[in-house]
Amino acid sequence: MVVERIAVIGTGYVGLVSGTTFAELGHSVICADLDEAKIAMLQRAEIPIYEPGLQELVTSNVQKNRLAFTSDIGEAIRSSDILLIAVGTPTLESGDVDMKYVHHVIATIVSHTTSAKVIVIKSTVPVGTGRRVEQELRTALPHIQIDVVSNPEFLREGSAIHDTFHPDRIVIGAEQAEAGKRIAALQSALPGELLLTDRESAELIKYASNAFLAAKISFINEMAHVCEKVGADVGLVAKGMGLDKRIGPHFLNAGIGYGGSCFPKDTRAQLKIAQNVDYDFKILSAVIEVNQLQRERFVDKIKDTLGGKLHGKRIAVLGLAFKPNTDDLRDAPALDVIHALQSLGAEIHAYDPAALHHASKLLRDVQMYDDLYDAAYDADAIVIATEWETIRQMNAERIRSLMRYPVIIDGRNMFRPDEMSRLGFTYVSVGRAA
Ligand code: UGA
Repeated sequence: MVVERIAVIGTGYVGLVSGTTFAELGHSVICADLDEAKIAMLQRAEIPIYEPGLQELVTSNVQKNRLAFTSDIGEAIRSSDILLIAVGTPTLESGDVDMKYVHHVIATIVSHTTSAKVIVIKSTVPVGTGRRVEQELRTALPHIQIDVVSNPEFLREGSAIHDTFHPDRIVIGAEQAEAGKRIAALQSALPGELLLTDRESAELIKYASNAFLAAKISFINEMAHVCEKVGADVGLVAKGMGLDKRIGPHFLNAGIGYGGSCFPKDTRAQLKIAQNVDYDFKILSAVIEVNQLQRERFVDKIKDTLGGKLHGKRIAVLGLAFKPNTDDLRDAPALDVIHALQSLGAEIHAYDPAALHHASKLLRDVQMYDDLYDAAYDADAIVIATEWETIRQMNAERIRSLMRYPVIIDGRNMFRPDEMSRLGFTYVSVGRAA
């Protein structure tokens, strides 16, 4: 195996996990970020994000001298042959992708490049970015060989290490076959099908995949409403659908809709990408609208279950993160639900095993607990917003004895309705008979 010298620019979620993975695969990796405080943390082997397994992997690769961290981006560029761009690409008010961090990195690359480089774009960027970046760099550095390759990332927060080492596919979009093969070789030890494409297709595969997964979720959430009206069980409907190999069983869990840093942002960006070429991507508009409505309908469900009035009611919200195994609260459905419940006069007590630190900065007048029994104490109702394992394992009888009224409104369909009734709860979930 050829050991490559790789600089990863941007040590957010994708950068940190990708850099650590390339080090684990035997390459020499330097992760660079302008954020000096974050780099200082990483140099002390403290991980700024919550991701099971990452700490161990970072520590072992630092010890093996394959992984280092720096805030000197220029030095990282000069000392590496492959530059991985993994900076954030947030969405602007207009719906367009904010490319300021990518532009800043490109300007830094121009200032510090004196030898040939392959630039790998890991950030999720609009179609055509790779081509434009390559033109810009070749114009600014006419005597240096520069190739730009798109290598989108498909890992999920909370299972990032597993996803990276067991990818379904590795997509590499390149115009120059040699550069594409070199980036493929970096990852040749990983399983999963290698798909070599042109750059535009690779860029679009990332958005198309996230948009399609979001569509599956919104579809099943709409089905859930139909199920409630006709007395069917959305869990069984999803199971029956998912047994068809053409549909597949994944991403068909009905609930309070998707959140996080990817689906909400990427669906809006894909819609805008289509609008920019005069195409009205109708399904995608509906996917986004349904996801928003899902949160509102869930609040209506809570209100209806509690007799229409929430004023003065104490509600224990279990789970704040946008999904389990992360402390990420970006676009978490729980936040919208809590704000809506508060505006209706409810008193909120919240439990989350990982996200309380971030939550305390985002939520006002919420009592926070890292123990779910404390959160449930004297509650008029429990609302489940994230399917944490600790919630699945809860002692339901103990919970019932602590609550003022034994009412659970479950936004993640974690429990069997018949079992919860047997345990004496009024149990309401999504798309299933009570
Ligand atoms: C998502 C994709 O799954 C990754 O493949 C992709 O690489 C990543 O975005 C990205 O673009 O970086 P992530 O946002 O970490 O990953 O989390 P997911 O596990 O996909 O969950 C997203 C949201 O969908 C969560 O709020 C989850 O609760 C919700 N969801 C998921 C459902 O409501 N129902 C489901 O059946 C599945």
